[in-house]
Amino acid sequence: MNWYGRSLAGASLALAALLSAVVAPARAQDYPTRSITMIVPFAAGGPTDVIARIVTGHMAQTLGQSIIIENVVGAGGTTASARAARAANDGYTLITGHMGTHAASVPLYPNLAYHPEKSFEPVGLLAGTPILILARKDFPPKDLKEFVTYVKANAEKVNAAHAGVGSVSHVSCQLLNSVLGIEPVGVPFNGTGPAMNALVAGQVDYMCDQIVNAVPQINAGTIKAYAIATPERNPSLPNVPTTAEAGLPAFQAQAWNAIFAPKGTPAPIIAKLNAAAVKALDDETVRKRLLELGSVIPQPADRTPEALGTLVNNEIKKWTPVLKPAG
Ligand code: MLT
Repeated sequence: MNWYGRSLAGASLALAALLSAVVAPARAQDYPTRSITMIVPFAAGGPTDVIARIVTGHMAQTLGQSIIIENVVGAGGTTASARAARAANDGYTLITGHMGTHAASVPLYPNLAYHPEKSFEPVGLLAGTPILILARKDFPPKDLKEFVTYVKANAEKVNAAHAGVGSVSHVSCQLLNSVLGIEPVGVPFNGTGPAMNALVAGQVDYMCDQIVNAVPQINAGTIKAYAIATPERNPSLPNVPTTAEAGLPAFQAQAWNAIFAPKGTPAPIIAKLNAAAVKALDDETVRKRLLELGSVIPQPADRTPEALGTLVNNEIKKWTPVLKPAG
């Protein structure tokens, strides 16, 4: 190539670089120009679905585009998370993940097709979700002390519903069962939405579930709640004792739900999404609905992408030694 050819090629490259530098931020600035898909890794009607719908309903108003919820079920939420990790990193596919999909999955799935930290950009924490010990309404034990005695005496007969290996309901009942020294039969569902239906119908015995899924059923008297696994009672369920009050202080569990984007999603897009999520969490109607269902709304300092990144890192470190020996 002669001097002219070389300088023309050089000029084209420089022009292409300049154009992409100008166009990329402009795209991020215009974002979003079409509807956004929010993957929910469990069945509709369960806690992650409910939280995602409450918050994204408001985020859509802020962003000026609809946010379409897509429930992608299977393998304790890891099928959906793998799909979200592979999606284009343009801000149009997001996932509402949680303590299971984005922390506990790491030690439980040796061949996990994604890594919560390496495959995703944290966007923002949506809600803390205390765990309750629940049972079908005609399960014989009347309180937590009787429950402990009963499940120990009937360990081969009782079963526990959950939303798949690595889900919050699975991991938190694993913790409970290890405290009690029992290994009941696990009954997997595609989410605790359908698992709750089975509990209400008396088809399964007990379940450890996030409060958001449990409050309406406890208040309707369709299931029993033995205790909430947090240090304090929850204002949405003032009559449900803490595990410490009910005699099992060793069982403490609270989950969380949060938004993640595929790795490499541009920082201005993450910032827009985070700002919309934060605005939703400050909205009176959104707050009322989340609080009625017992969620813990994150404090402002805990709502940043960086804070979510730190949470995920800490949670992987916390769950790995607990879950790895259990296999
Ligand atoms: C759900 O939405 O079904 C739950 O978050 C499942 C779980 O992790 O227990």
